[in-house]
Amino acid sequence: MKRALITGVTGQDGSYLAEVLLDRGYDVYGLVRRTSGGPSDILEQLHRTRGLHFIYGDLHDVASLRRAMEIAKPDEVYNLASQSHVGVSFEVPEDAWEVNYLGAGRVITEALKANKATRIYQASSSEMFGTTPPPQNELSAFAPVSPYAQAKLRAHKEYVVGYREDKGAYVCSGILFNHESPRRGKHFVTRKITLSLAKIKLGLQERLELGNLNVKRDWGYAKEYVVAMHTMLERDSAEDFVIATGVQHSVREFVDAAASVLGMPVLWEGSGVDEVGKNKKGEVIVSVNPKFFRSREVSDLVGDASKAKRILGWEPSVSFSELVSMMAKADYDELVRSAQ
Ligand code: NAP
Ligand code: GDD
Repeated sequence: MKRALITGVTGQDGSYLAEVLLDRGYDVYGLVRRTSGGPSDILEQLHRTRGLHFIYGDLHDVASLRRAMEIAKPDEVYNLASQSHVGVSFEVPEDAWEVNYLGAGRVITEALKANKATRIYQASSSEMFGTTPPPQNELSAFAPVSPYAQAKLRAHKEYVVGYREDKGAYVCSGILFNHESPRRGKHFVTRKITLSLAKIKLGLQERLELGNLNVKRDWGYAKEYVVAMHTMLERDSAEDFVIATGVQHSVREFVDAAASVLGMPVLWEGSGVDEVGKNKKGEVIVSVNPKFFRSREVSDLVGDASKAKRILGWEPSVSFSELVSMMAKADYDELVRSAQ
């Protein structure tokens, strides 16, 4: 039986990846930080019913990572742990550097020290392309603008490309474009939109405040993206792959799509910081709050995943409208359930 260690197992991608690897017959170990909330119900259930193992550890703590490698003895390591919020990385830049660059280095180095044949997946990001015009693919220039992306890029260059070329290590970067799901963290824009609009619909919240409505992202479904991570590590040689849908939408379009799923279409008025979205009664339900603007913004991302299609046979099947609908309905249904 193959063994896998997932860092960041408590995050969105970690939980989906744990399910995929368990389904594929792996013995799966998840690195968890000690937090007051503990692992989510989904993970607790995977632990109870499907044998997912938890190991306490932290990317700040090299001894904990060494211990995790000794316990898990992984054939494959998926380094998904990170300070993953780009906006927050402007406010707490050293933490982004510490976890996303140095921490990634600790994971990858310890994995290879424990077993130099370990296959390693590093969660790189489309944010590394920064201001490079779309579409972006594996050959596009990197031009990161956030502390988050600068740290991810340094990890990619030093511990993925560098270790592959200098040590012959099996390390792949998945350069994933934004991917979302009902399990998405509540401070990322898509989930913030679906959860807030569901609350507005139920009279639990008055207004949704957002930052830049014009930025465009290539949003796919996380459950499909984690399959690509595993498929990358099944190949004989390690390479990097862009994973994306190839379709982009603005934040405003995401709001429109979610609001219409919830049966409350938004009418936009004004522009810039004065732009508002009104419901059909004329009440403002969406407004712009400059506190959500970023000091440097990545305004235009859309990925070209043709290499992944050609070599991995991977392509997405869930459309933008299906994704938005899944997320909006999940938030609405959960709020209704918890009110009963
Ligand atoms: P997420 O939901 O925010 O999960 C982040 C995970 O990292 C959590 O499990 C968190 O643990 C863990 N973590 C944070 N700091 C840690 C530390 N010091 N030590 C150990 N664990 C730590 O992120 P995600 O959306 O699943 O993304 C997974 C990875 O892909 C991340 O590296 C992200 O940067 C990258 N990525 C994501 C996307 C996307 O659109 N989702 C796109 C490209 C790349 P706690 O639960 O304890 O906080
Ligand atoms: N979070 C947030 N909150 N973003 C907002 C808001 C808001 O209120 N209003 C507008 N936005 C804009 C952001 O400025 C950004 O341009 C866009 O919405 C998407 O923001 P996020 O959902 O926070 O995601 P991200 O694109 O910055 O980062 C995500 O995707 C990266 C891949 O491109 C994260 O998952 C990263 O970890 C990942 O690497």
